[in-house]
Amino acid sequence: MTATATAASGPSALWFATRGAGVATLVLLTATLVLGISTSLRVEGRRTPRFVFASLHRNLSLLALLLLVVHIVTAVADPFAGIRGLDALVPFAGAYRRVWLGLGVLSAEGMAAVVATSLLRRRIGPRRWRLVHWLAYAAWPLAVVHGLGTGSDAQQPWMLGLTAACAGAVLAAVSARLLRGGWRTLPARGIAAAAAVATTVAIAAWTAAGPLQPGWAVRAGTPASILSAPTPTPADRTGPFRDPLVGTLVRTSSGQAEVSLRDAADPSLTIVIMPPGPAQTLPEITVERGATTLCHVPARAGTSFYAVCGAVRLVIALTGAPPDVGGTLTASAPLR
Ligand code: HEM
Repeated sequence: MTATATAASGPSALWFATRGAGVATLVLLTATLVLGISTSLRVEGRRTPRFVFASLHRNLSLLALLLLVVHIVTAVADPFAGIRGLDALVPFAGAYRRVWLGLGVLSAEGMAAVVATSLLRRRIGPRRWRLVHWLAYAAWPLAVVHGLGTGSDAQQPWMLGLTAACAGAVLAAVSARLLRGGWRTLPARGIAAAAAVATTVAIAAWTAAGPLQPGWAVRAGTPASILSAPTPTPADRTGPFRDPLVGTLVRTSSGQAEVSLRDAADPSLTIVIMPPGPAQTLPEITVERGATTLCHVPARAGTSFYAVCGAVRLVIALTGAPPDVGGTLTASAPLR
């Protein structure tokens, strides 16, 4: 992630939750759409009757809505981007990446309308229900563009791969749907196919020219106050972190290995791993910040070292060829 993107994403646990829930919502929305199309095509397997597809479709849509609520609530609760409750309800009302966030709001409202009218289907009748249900086809590409335009992970290969996989699944399902039907519906199906192809090409071209280019955080409309915020330092940490370690391994007079490590991202943090003393069975870990000892605790050793320093869980993984060793420190909370 670039410094700008880091600044724009912030290190808080709420922001990580927003991102995770956003990705999960997109995946569930995709699965819901594909299952919905399978239901309308009356797909069934040898061992999977049609009602299984229908009930999975219904249950996944409810789960997607639940995750969407988590996504929105955590985005609003996180103070970093300054997204207000109103910005999550009124499309294009917010200052943070206005257009791309606004498309997410439109998508969410479309999704909420589809789920709500499905729950009220008996009352509103099949015609009105079906009309609203078409919104699902619009909500999906809007969510994709929102995710790529707003998300901190849009440039990551895993996010691009996941989005491409979701797009492939939806395109395959939509193609199957459009290939089914008589002559009477051929013109409408032809128009829908052209719209699907045009939308796919447009989103791919926009992704290449926009979110994948350097400087997207600025062009996407990230407020200047956030862009100019200093890149968070380890001292600003509020949640779990993972840092690279560098150090050396020396042999004690009794031939046992003793490892001294420094946190490469937070150099005032040092870690020493001592072999067990004569009356001990476990190695000892000492964590120091500057001249202050934060803890001196026993560690379980497997492929990595596990220890609890105060209330912070630590995993220290070592790599490299002695005497030069490196590795990573994963901690459940800041070490202060
Ligand atoms: C169906 C509706 C929605 C879906 C499927 C969705 C999905 C996503 C996805 C996939 C991301 C990218 C996450 C990443 O890069 O790791 C994202 C980002 C984001 N979404 Fe949504 N979203 C929806 C609606 C909304 C709404 C209504 C809001 C309003 C608060 C919102 C706020 C955000 C924010 C602030 C981000 C940026 C998080 C980051 O920096 O990664 N989303 N969303």
